[in-house]
Amino acid sequence: DAAPATGCPAATAGRPPAPDLFTWEFAADPYPAYAWLRTHAPVHRTALPSGVEAWLVTRYTDARQALADARLSKNPVHHSESAHGKGKVGIPGERSANLMTHLLNIDPPDHTRLRRLVSKAFTPRRVAEFAPRVQQLADDLIDGFAGRGEADLIHEFAFPLPIYAICDLLGVPREDQDDFRDWAGMMIRHGGGPRGGVARSVKKMRTYLAELIHRKRENPGEDLISGLIRASDHGEHLTENEAAAMAFILLFAGFETTVNLIGNGTYALLRHPAQRELLQGALAAGDTGLLTTGIEELLRYDGPVELATWRFATQELTLGGQRIAAGDPVLVVLAAADRDPARFADPDVLDLTRRDNPHLGYGHGIHYCLGAPLARLEGQTALATLLRRLPDLRLGADPDALRWRGGLIMRGLRSLPVEFTPE
Ligand code: HEM
Repeated sequence: DAAPATGCPAATAGRPPAPDLFTWEFAADPYPAYAWLRTHAPVHRTALPSGVEAWLVTRYTDARQALADARLSKNPVHHSESAHGKGKVGIPGERSANLMTHLLNIDPPDHTRLRRLVSKAFTPRRVAEFAPRVQQLADDLIDGFAGRGEADLIHEFAFPLPIYAICDLLGVPREDQDDFRDWAGMMIRHGGGPRGGVARSVKKMRTYLAELIHRKRENPGEDLISGLIRASDHGEHLTENEAAAMAFILLFAGFETTVNLIGNGTYALLRHPAQRELLQGALAAGDTGLLTTGIEELLRYDGPVELATWRFATQELTLGGQRIAAGDPVLVVLAAADRDPARFADPDVLDLTRRDNPHLGYGHGIHYCLGAPLARLEGQTALATLLRRLPDLRLGADPDALRWRGGLIMRGLRSLPVEFTPE
């Protein structure tokens, strides 16, 4: 039975009080609050920590519909507050560095053109060819701490792996990759924190990428940036700025997400010993089927992207029975939708064998994650290698002492201390 929409005074009578959102307790475990919202206020207007008011969409059916609804634009010019709320939505520093024209901020027809272009360069074949490099990266990083018996898996494994992988893929020379590591570190540590540092890092990245694109035009290689330039030379046009914005969004969208997939995924396995043993047993027997369904389940159960990126109503519309005014921001809560009991059996249970699992962890519709094949490769390689090389891996801290990063869009641990028998 449909719960009444929010905003109606009669609907609020007799129900438990709304949970506090965006507190420390919420960051540690947002799922009870999301269950409340799904039941009592499935399309819920709330003030975000930045002060911007937005609608949170928490039911699976509404979430899926919203992600594919052309009336919800990705372009921040449609934000009713954009005239005076400048800089409040999006990636800090993005505006000043002129990186706005990337896939997650634009609508068709520009989105269609740019997505077609990048898809020509970022093919499943390119990702498959990349598998040995990802395996080597995982092994090299584990070599760095395997003899110690303890490590912080975020800092020493989950964080460096994706940044080096994307740098390699884009064609950033190895000697420059540690700069990227530092800039990305600034963005992940202080996302939502001191914006000056983040904005400076974004600017440095932008300058570097512009120079790199210039160099690749002169001297193309087999990398993704050269592929993008080549694709654009064959008929379709890609401006210099669009190329830089594309490289930037590949880095930005493909980095913290994958850090969190590895971090949240490992943490969930460590908290569910029976599931972890099942997976370890399957891997030891050479069966990778459970790894494939398992990574999808980890994405559903505690995915890296808590809320999909911003959307803005271009006209008045109704979603889940709730009227939304033109210009209002809409945030689709993927983490809530993926625990909706109306779609998933026993949604709060981690079941690596789950097959009926159309989760929204990679989004849905025209903005569906472009990097999903790479994310799957990295996630599967990282977890399988960890479990194979450190078979008695265990948590090195009380779960209550772990801290989650407080950013709005992403969900991930600040650190993940582990212990194991040294190799
Ligand atoms: C879009 C999730 C890894 C590149 C998205 C969206 C989600 C998502 C939810 C849609 C956002 C929205 O509609 O607002 C994830 C997760 C990942 C991951 C959970 C890791 C586990 C990657 C990687 C790359 C990447 C490795 C590339 C290197 C992109 C791009 C888009 C996107 C370019 C924008 C697509 C468009 O707007 O057409 N991702 N992502 N992602 N992702 Fe990923």
